[in-house]
Amino acid sequence: MSISTHIKISLAEKPTLTGELVLLRPVEAADVPGLVELVSDPEVGRLTGSHASFNIEALEQWYATRADHDDRLDLAIVERATGGYVGEVVLNEFDVDNLSCSLRIALVGTRAFGRGFGSEAIRLILGHAFETVGLHRVSLEVYDFNPRARHVYEKIGFVHEGTRRQALRWEDAWVDAHDMAILAHEWAKHQGHPDRCG
Ligand SMILES: CC(C)(COP(=O)(O)OP(=O)(O)OC[C@H]1O[C@@H](n2cnc3c(N)ncnc32)[C@H](O)[C@@H]1OP(=O)(O)O)[C@@H](O)C(=O)NCCC(=O)NCCS
Repeated sequence: MSISTHIKISLAEKPTLTGELVLLRPVEAADVPGLVELVSDPEVGRLTGSHASFNIEALEQWYATRADHDDRLDLAIVERATGGYVGEVVLNEFDVDNLSCSLRIALVGTRAFGRGFGSEAIRLILGHAFETVGLHRVSLEVYDFNPRARHVYEKIGFVHEGTRRQALRWEDAWVDAHDMAILAHEWAKHQGHPDRCG
């Protein structure tokens, strides 16, 4: 047994991160109408493989209590032009010993897709994760029927690490899930790349 001298990091800080198109800020109970739109959208449900149903009280309780947790970071994606909630981006499954966590993101629905919000939101939260928190690895999964999300992750620097075959059953069809991750040095290298988009 060794005594570790490492300083323990956490996700206790709940920052506001400002980009050109969106800003990220801690979720709050007032965002629940937007969250209801998100979880009610059939296409978002399919692309995220979400089988679960919801009730409004549970969603209100969920968003009202996210700031109490130092092992996850739940940020609302707010469109700067309108001030409106357009989705959420989350760091969860925090592993303090291995300096890693998972990332998930969803916009409210097709009205928000393809406008650059997702790419910018992911870059903002990764900047915080690697450069402020000091994480080493951020991972995610993306289903095979979601080429837009996979394109965005690859563009940002996530690397495909493997495929879990037929991990999702969606409307009687089996769907593969791809594991992807980005490491701190890959993020730093990507940030310095002259051809970086956005
Ligand atoms: C995935 C998601 C976060 C991406 O955010 P977004 O704001 O829609 O994406 P952006 O506008 O930033 O970028 C879209 C990119 O995908 C590309 N794209 C669009 N459709 C595509 C397709 N079918 N195949 C490949 N690339 C596609 C666009 O050309 C664009 O690429 P570019 O930036 O190189 O020009 C968002 O679409 C979303 O919330 N989807 C529903 C939930 C979801 O899928 N969550 C992720 C689960 S893993």
